[in-house]
Amino acid sequence: MPSRTPPVAPAAIPELLGNRYRIERLLGVGGMGAVYQVRDLLREQFNDPQPTVALKALNDQFAAHADANALLYAEYALTCRLHHPNVIRPYSYHIDPASGRAFMTLELLEGPALDQIIADHPDGMAWPALQPLAVGLLSALAHAHDAGVLHGDLKPGNIILSTAGLRLFDFGLGRGCRGPLQRLPRLSRRLAAWTPRYAALELLDGEELTAAADLYAVACVLYELASGHHPFSRLTARQAMRMQQETGLQKPHGIPKPVWRELRTALAFDPAARITSVAALLEAFRKGSKTGWPPAVRRRWQPAAGPPAASDQSDRSRLDAAMKAFFRSS
Ligand SMILES: Nc1ncnc2c1ncn2[C@@H]1O[C@H](COP(=O)(O)OP(=O)(O)O)[C@@H](O)[C@H]1O
Ligand SMILES: [Mg+2]
Repeated sequence: MPSRTPPVAPAAIPELLGNRYRIERLLGVGGMGAVYQVRDLLREQFNDPQPTVALKALNDQFAAHADANALLYAEYALTCRLHHPNVIRPYSYHIDPASGRAFMTLELLEGPALDQIIADHPDGMAWPALQPLAVGLLSALAHAHDAGVLHGDLKPGNIILSTAGLRLFDFGLGRGCRGPLQRLPRLSRRLAAWTPRYAALELLDGEELTAAADLYAVACVLYELASGHHPFSRLTARQAMRMQQETGLQKPHGIPKPVWRELRTALAFDPAARITSVAALLEAFRKGSKTGWPPAVRRRWQPAAGPPAASDQSDRSRLDAAMKAFFRSS
């Protein structure tokens, strides 16, 4: 089982790293790393309007690991392969010459993580707010899979709704599943402090990470956003399967039926029954209830020229509008 010790920030992180990044404050600590807000003195010297960035270093437990620097590099390299508005932007990777500590710098995200948003919506988010978030998250993940990158640790705490948009981050348990990316070092899942309640059954059984396992995890996150609670009462897939929780799964109130069909399939414990994909789930969330209506009903509700084609641009503007509403109300 993964380590259950509570995460702690590195005890001896220097105040100035790489002769360039001055630590301002701790932003968060996860199972593997600690993330700080830092001032980039070089940016500041050239009057860059945004001199603060995020800096991720490994926590003491992982920093002591023989391959620690290579593992953080792998996270950086995987993230660098991705170019998507809903995936965090990595900036650079360094080894601090004085302390020997590896660190990476990243876009600074300001805003709540999805676990906060779920806690703020105990009865679930209404469809108009949920849809653009789901589309942003699923298109980020579909992009990663298209680029041959699996995430491996999808959970609400690894997604932030920043003032600049939704961002998926923390590819520390990710892996390249195609071509030379597969040769990057990988952390043994046995060592990792991953969250069992988002892990697909086959991962709990020790199998390799696959796109289908990412699909199960993202489906748990979407269900939680839509209903306010974890689909299987925060149990692991194995515990929930023993208690036959799959059969009692209820459709969250605001989710249109055709979307629910896809989401429910993505939540199947048996990977052989998980016969959908991130791309298909994305398509279902994009269309909403449109596909579920009989053609006569659909025609009645469509403007004469037909609805605008689902495009990245319309997804972006819906997400922007939902975010503006969210930040106004919080
Ligand atoms: N770029 C960022 N901007 C702001 N906060 C961040 C950023 N990256 C991570 N965090 C915060 O730090 C925490 C730990 O970061 P994460 O990359 O998830 O580390 P771990 O691999 O240990 O889980 C996150 O849960 C989040 O609260
Ligand atoms: Mg994390």
